[in-house]
Order: sequence, then structure tokens, then C-alpha cells
Amino acid sequence: MRQYSRAAAAAVALAATAKATNTASLSSLCTVANVQAALPANGTLLGIDLLPSTVTAETSSDQQSGSDYCAVSVSYVHTGTTDEIVLNYGFPSPADFSNRFYVAGGFGYSLGTSSTGGLEYGAVGGATDAGYGALTGTTVDEVNIKGNGTINWDPIFMFAYQALGELTTVGKPLTRAFYGLDSDAKIYTYYEGCSDGGRQGMSQIQRYGAEYDGAIIGAPAFRYGQQQVNHLFSSVVEQTLDYYPPTCEMEKIVNATIAGCDALDGRVDGVISRSDLCQLEFNLTSIIGESYYCAAETSASLGFNFNKRNDGSSVSTTPAQRGNVTAKGVEVAQKIYDGLFSSAGERAYLSYRIGAEFTDGETAYDNTTGTWGVDIPSTGGEFVGRFIELQDVDNLSTLEGVTYDTLIEWMNEAMVLYMDTLQTTLPDLTTFESTGGKIIHYHGESDPSVPTASSVHYWQSVARTMYPSLSTADALEKLKTWYQLYLVPGAAHCGRNTLQPDGPFPEDNMETMIQWIENGVQPAWLNATVDAGQYDGEVQQLCQFPKRPLWKNGAWECETDAEGAETFYYNFPAFKTPVF
Ligand SMILES: *[C@@H]1O[C@H](CO)[C@@H](O)[C@H](O)[C@H]1NC(C)=O
Ligand SMILES: *[C@@H]1O[C@H](CO)[C@@H](O)[C@H](O)[C@H]1NC(C)=O
Ligand SMILES: *[C@@H]1O[C@H](CO)[C@@H](O)[C@H](O)[C@H]1NC(C)=O
Ligand SMILES: *[C@@H]1O[C@H](CO)[C@@H](O)[C@H](O)[C@H]1NC(C)=O
Ligand SMILES: *[C@@H]1O[C@H](CO)[C@@H](O)[C@H](O)[C@H]1NC(C)=O
Ligand SMILES: *[C@@H]1O[C@H](CO)[C@@H](O)[C@H](O)[C@H]1NC(C)=O
Ligand SMILES: *[C@@H]1O[C@H](CO)[C@@H](O)[C@H](O)[C@H]1NC(C)=O
Ligand SMILES: *[C@@H]1O[C@H](CO)[C@@H](O)[C@H](O)[C@H]1NC(C)=O
Repeated sequence: MRQYSRAAAAAVALAATAKATNTASLSSLCTVANVQAALPANGTLLGIDLLPSTVTAETSSDQQSGSDYCAVSVSYVHTGTTDEIVLNYGFPSPADFSNRFYVAGGFGYSLGTSSTGGLEYGAVGGATDAGYGALTGTTVDEVNIKGNGTINWDPIFMFAYQALGELTTVGKPLTRAFYGLDSDAKIYTYYEGCSDGGRQGMSQIQRYGAEYDGAIIGAPAFRYGQQQVNHLFSSVVEQTLDYYPPTCEMEKIVNATIAGCDALDGRVDGVISRSDLCQLEFNLTSIIGESYYCAAETSASLGFNFNKRNDGSSVSTTPAQRGNVTAKGVEVAQKIYDGLFSSAGERAYLSYRIGAEFTDGETAYDNTTGTWGVDIPSTGGEFVGRFIELQDVDNLSTLEGVTYDTLIEWMNEAMVLYMDTLQTTLPDLTTFESTGGKIIHYHGESDPSVPTASSVHYWQSVARTMYPSLSTADALEKLKTWYQLYLVPGAAHCGRNTLQPDGPFPEDNMETMIQWIENGVQPAWLNATVDAGQYDGEVQQLCQFPKRPLWKNGAWECETDAEGAETFYYNFPAFKTPVF
């Protein structure tokens, strides 16, 4: 039953028209009674029963924007169950509110925890504890099994898509009622996230397409079965070729590749803007014999899940390294860039672009023997241990006996096991598209953690699925009116690249998206700024894939290069199940 207090009734009456809302003060709306009265009644959202007694509401100040907002918390249960799920929302003051709702993604095995990310856009924001303590830092890998061998599906479904979907489904009617808008008032709804936050965003447009207007998706860690197991591929290459390159040798190979391919895009700026031309024209064997040197170093590396008990962080000490790039080192590098094939020669997955760092392939120095050996990345090791083998472990203890075929079996197993949760590659976006949804999807071209071509493959799958009877060219023309893909020259995983520091990065995606959704301005490019080196301050216009950047007559252009684009396209015959 809805509970109305006098204050809430007054707030609702005052807010009867949108104009009047703006004259209400934040403090008059930021009351437990107003929020309780604004909760969607039981029965209106199928399967969601809100608990009015759990509501808190207090006026707070946002450190980042300096503006006041109303911090609201409310819990709900799934009908017929008793486990409470906590939702946090941040409501801007009525004067700042622009009829927007904003959801930010998390990363690694985390969901986003901040409900204030929307304030700078005049948007209500939200975050959810997903029923397993996500707001207080519990990550899904801490709760994905109940014990060895027993999957704990509830948190997996919630993390995979349901928690964010419900956050938004509850949040939009709550937003309307909080400010006293009509129950059918348009609330522009945005999603923004990168890495697993990108995967989380894809889950929302795939499954809650009607709820979202604009989704900004960076380097999504989706196609989860393949993506997570693929983190072990580089180590398995080293094991198979029986060569564990010193870290400095691999770094030298990357640096020399950057130097060798820098100019192929028409400008020498330390950035491989055309990894396609690099792949087609640069032969890694030309690096053999080049000398390298790295000073001794003690470094702490943050793992995938770096704030947790199984943090994957490690302190490593490497000696001064001096040598020449070996044929074996180049062979390892080439195999890693080539991607995973079965022993029968069938391609199973794609890999990082040439010129990307070899993060997964980093080796460990053993100072007792003075040799280099395997260092299993916990990204892949934990996934195989906990999510496939269902053991309570943080890493694999060994890769002994693990072959390319083993990786493919793991990928297949995980793809099937998590097909309807974490895989997150449903290619039919009809609901989202037909309700006006728009996607800006970006991916660093030198990403060493989620392969760039992984994004290209999904974008292609959507084009094929949505426009099966059109030619590729016609399908892409249609697609770009609502789904645009941008590769970011030289960029790493969800950010700039220390080895290609003069590369651009797009930073005003929300402004571009708001223009698109609210004013109908379909972007022709993304603005991306350079913040280092001789071109510091330059704004580059990122090309919509499959167009490729080229520096010509003193300016960046976007050219059509079918052969170049082709280097991003893959099929995966090693799997009998279609891989989207
Ligand atoms: C909605 O359902 C829940 C769980 O059944 C109950 O605790 C709650 O009081 C109900 N809300 C209202 C407003 O009746
Ligand atoms: C690679 O380039 C980076 C940045 O330009 C530099 O700091 C590093 O020393 C180089 N490493 C090697 C092995 O050449
Ligand atoms: C690279 O050069 C080596 C040695 O000259 C040659 O064997 C190899 O076929 C070349 N690779 C490509 C892709 O051209
Ligand atoms: C994972 O385990 C392996 C083998 O014990 C170890 O070499 C590696 O350092 C571990 N990785 C992390 C990130 O902890
Ligand atoms: C590297 O190669 C140079 C000649 O190209 C040679 O003089 C030097 O000894 C080599 N260094 C090592 C560590 O092998
Ligand atoms: C080897 O590394 C460990 C850990 O960093 C350190 O404690 C130890 O002193 C080192 N031993 C030698 C011989 O350098
Ligand atoms: C669960 O499996 C892990 C790894 O195999 C093992 O170390 C642990 O003891 C097992 N836990 C229980 C309760 O059996
Ligand atoms: C790019 O930036 C310019 C100003 O530098 C601005 O006028 C334009 O609207 C921006 N375009 C996009 C797509 O963000």
C-alpha cells in the first residue's frame, strides 16, 4: 500500500507540472515520506516488491560537482523471496534536474558503486548491491560458488544483467514520481561504462532495450567464455614454444613495432593509428637482433580484481636486462598476435592488435635460478579455476598439460555454461533500436586486455542479424544511424597508452550522446584529445569503423580501405555453436 504523508502530498501537488517542479527545493523533496510515496506500488513492476520501511533520504553534497543532491536508499525483494536488494539513487536538485537517468558500469568482477555520476548531467544516478553486497565491495567472484562444485546462480544472474536492469526499471518511475512528473513523462536514460562496465552496458541494451536511450560502451569484456579464457593464451604460447621471453625483450618488440608502424598512417607521432597497415606491411622478424636494455626494477602490479582478497596484485623484482631480440621472442610475439587455433588448424579466437603490449604474456623472473618462467595471469587463471572448474581458488597453480585445444575446450564449456548470463553477445537489438536507442561503442586499437577485434566482431554480428537481407554496405549504412563503432588510435584498455602517449582519447562522449538523443544530432565522428607530446591539445575526429584514419595534406581524414578493415574480421570454425 502506498503511504502518503502531508509533505509528500504537498510535494506531489506542487510538482503537478514540470515547470512547478523547478520551484520546489531539494530539501522539500528529499524526505522519506516523498520517496515512500514515489515508490512503484507492488504489482506494477513484475517480480519486484519494494519495501517502504527501508527508505532513507538525506540531502548531501557531491564532492566532485560541489552540488547538493538527495541520497536515497531503498530495498526490494523478488516476489516470493526474502533476500533484500539495496538500491541507492542520487537525485539532483529540482533546478538542476534535466529529465535524465544515468547508470555507470563497474569493472572486473564489480558493479558500479556510485550513484552520483549523473549529477553533472542533471541526471538521477543509481547503484545496486545486487543482493550480494556489491555496494560494499563484494565482487561476484567471491560469491559465484556456494562450495566446490556448486554454482551460486543468483549472484551470477544479478551481476550478468538483472541487477542493473532492475535498478533502471525501478529508478525511472521513482524519478518521475519523486519530482512529481506525469507517469508517462520522458526520462532520457543513459548508460556509460568500459571493460566489464562495457559488457554490463551490452547486457542492458540486449535485455532491457526499451529502458535505455543512449549507451556509451567502451572495450566491452563480453563474449565472456572466450574473453576470460583468452587471458591464458599468451602464457600457453610461451609454454608451447618453450620460450619465456624476458620482459624487456617483449617490451622492445612492442616499442620497435610502434616505431616501425608509426609512419604508415601518414604522420610520425609515436602512434600506430593504422594497426591494419602495420599487420599487412610490417614483418616482426625485422626486429630480430635489435638490442634492448631495461634497468633493474621492483614493481607492484594491480591485478584484475585489485581491491579484493584474491587481489592478483604482486610485487616483482626484475634484474637489469640487456640483450638482443631473438627469433624465438619474435615467434612468441607473432603467435600471440595471430590468435588461438586448434591443433586441427581451425581458428578459435582473435587476439590483440599488432603493437599492443604483451600484458597477458608477462613472464616471471626467478632470482634463484636466474631464469624466466610462466606467470599465470589471474584474470584467466581465476576464471578457469572458479567459474569453470568451480573450485574455491584464486588462480590456477599450473598450466602443465594445458594446450591450445585445452583452452578451446574451456572456452566452449564456459560459453555454454554462461550463455544466458555472462556471455552477453545476443546480437538481436531490435527492441533497443526500435524504441530509438543509440550506441556509441569505442575500443582502443592497442588494447592489451580485451582484443579490439572482439568489439568489431560483435558489431558485425549485429549488422548481420539485424539486416540479413541487405548487402554489407547497405547494412552498415543503416547500422550507423543508431550504432556507431569507433577505434581509438594507439589507446590501451579503457584509457591512454603509456607506450603511445601522443594518441588521442575521446572524453566528451556523454555530450555527444545527449546531442544525439535529445536534439537528433547524429554524430559523424567522436572528438578525441591528445594530451601529451608535440601535438598536445590537438582534437582529432575519430573515424567511424570501418573507415580508417589517414594523415593527408596536413589533416586527418577517414578513408575506406577494405583490405585494412578485413584484418579486423574473423570467423571461429573451432566452435560448432555460432559465436556472435
Ligand atoms: C510490497 O511487498 C513487500 C513484500 O511482500 C512488502 O514487505 C511491502 O510492504 C509491500 N509494499 C507495500 C507498499 O505494501
Ligand atoms: C619502450 O618505450 C618506453 C616509452 O617510450 C620506454 O620508457 C622504454 O624504456 C622502452 N623500452 C625498451 C625496452 O626499449
Ligand atoms: C616475414 O619475414 C620472414 C623472414 O624473411 C618470412 O619468412 C616471413 O614469411 C615473413 N612474413 C610475412 C607475413 O611476410
Ligand atoms: C597465479 O599463479 C601462478 C602460479 O602459482 C603464479 O605464477 C602467478 O604469479 C599467479 N598470478 C597472480 C597474478 O597471482
Ligand atoms: C647483440 O648483437 C651485437 C651485434 O649485433 C653483439 O655485438 C652483441 O654481443 C649482442 N649482445 C648480446 C647480449 O647478445
Ligand atoms: C629474490 O627475490 C626475493 C623476493 O623479491 C627476495 O626476498 C630475495 O632477497 C631475492 N634473492 C636474491 C638472491 O636476490
Ligand atoms: C575446494 O577446492 C580447493 C581447490 O581444489 C581445495 O583447496 C579446498 O580444500 C576445497 N575446499 C573444501 C571445503 O573441500
Ligand atoms: C567537437 O568539438 C567541437 C569544438 O571543439 C564542437 O563544436 C563539436 O560539437 C564537437 N563534436 C562532437 C561530435 O562532439
